[in-house]
Amino acid sequence: MTAEFDRLRALLGPKGWLETDADIAPYEKEERGLFKGKAAAVARPADTNEVAEVLKICNAARIGVVPQSGNTGLVGGGVPDASGRQIVLSLARLDRVRGLDAANDTISVEAGVILADIQKRAAEAGRLFPLSLAAEGTCRIGGNLSTNAGGINVLRYGMARDLVLGLEVVLADGRVLDAMKGLRKDNTGYDLKQIFLGAEGTLGIVTAAVLKLFPAPREIETCLVAVPDPKAAIELLGRAKNESGGNVQAFELTQRRLIDYVLAHIPGTSDPLAERHDWYALIEFASGDLGGALKTMVERLLERAMEDGLVLDAAIASSEQQRKALWKLRESMTEAQKPEGASIKHDVSVPVSSVPEFLAEATALCEAMVPGARVCAFGHAGDGNIHFNISRPTDWRDADFQARRKEMNAAVHGIVGRMRGSISAEHGVGILKRDDLPKYKDPTAIELMRTLKAAFDPNNILNPGKVVP
Ligand code: MLT
Ligand code: ZN
Repeated sequence: MTAEFDRLRALLGPKGWLETDADIAPYEKEERGLFKGKAAAVARPADTNEVAEVLKICNAARIGVVPQSGNTGLVGGGVPDASGRQIVLSLARLDRVRGLDAANDTISVEAGVILADIQKRAAEAGRLFPLSLAAEGTCRIGGNLSTNAGGINVLRYGMARDLVLGLEVVLADGRVLDAMKGLRKDNTGYDLKQIFLGAEGTLGIVTAAVLKLFPAPREIETCLVAVPDPKAAIELLGRAKNESGGNVQAFELTQRRLIDYVLAHIPGTSDPLAERHDWYALIEFASGDLGGALKTMVERLLERAMEDGLVLDAAIASSEQQRKALWKLRESMTEAQKPEGASIKHDVSVPVSSVPEFLAEATALCEAMVPGARVCAFGHAGDGNIHFNISRPTDWRDADFQARRKEMNAAVHGIVGRMRGSISAEHGVGILKRDDLPKYKDPTAIELMRTLKAAFDPNNILNPGKVVP
């Protein structure tokens, strides 16, 4: 690889080519420490042309390229393997907003732009870019699109792939696919951009996108609602969607245990309700300027739901500060599980109507498998996505619990499979779930994935070993 590395070094310059162990180390691992590899070098191209040149050289020399943007992924998709022969290709320097077309409700951005910066640019123009997730301050849009990120607003606005109108992609051989159109109607054959969204960099490298914008909400109502059980929560969701005329933008469900963990481990948090309850929904409504009518609607909805026994208690945020405090409870849940010791995680989805049944069955099964296991179920119930995590029994050692991971994954995923759900709702496949895919995905779908991979990347240089079983 010496000759190729000489060419890459000359092409990219000192800012764009890292080789020392110290410089490379941060790119070889992810935040949770679950995955770690060894990279030969890190390429940090400054623009699409440089990405194309890097891929041309690597394709000719069969050098594996692992694309990475914010490196906040949870399935090891952005981490190189242990061979020391792959390079990491960081998109962080492609960080320009190419333009915002307010009348067309679109923003054109490069892959390295931080998600929160896109939200901010949209807000400055009186618009909303609705993709929102806990990592938004550090994740970058290229990764969000390549993993088809989800987050909290999916029930209203869809997943990342639903927010894309146009895309620029560098193919394995260095050709650039320019599909950077801001069109809502374009029936000219295959929708090629969709092939790259959610492909985790295995079919091409996303370098830029045209994204959809929406009217910025003028009225927002956020409430934390105690509910008797998940069944009541899903009934409440249905009422909320109907009565608000589709103005529910987030509907998160959690069991009490997560709130306890947050209160115990995250400074500056407090319980907004006077009494303890088993289950909670965090609901956010948003609308245009209705002259305050959204608040009246929410109050009426909750009052009636309380009369009908669907709601036990509720706290409605009366200031932006209170709203932020409610969201902090929710957004700290992943962090707050860490001090409780090893956990076995599942990022699954089932039809919204099946959420209560899934929770009941999966909880009973896991508690029977490991008595004392502490189920921590929370997540985006409004779109059917549950983070079904299980903390070890308090008196178990981490390693003993982790030894049960495969068995517990199979049990939970088995239930998901029976309900025609997904074993990766929003975090992707990466390496974590690659080998489980054939058990839960249609064999014809797996065959077609392999066909696509071979067609788009015949030399297998794009994120080799990820996603495709
Ligand atoms: C969340 O919704 O908080 C995350 O997707 C869960 C996670 O980080 O595991
Ligand atoms: Zn999530």
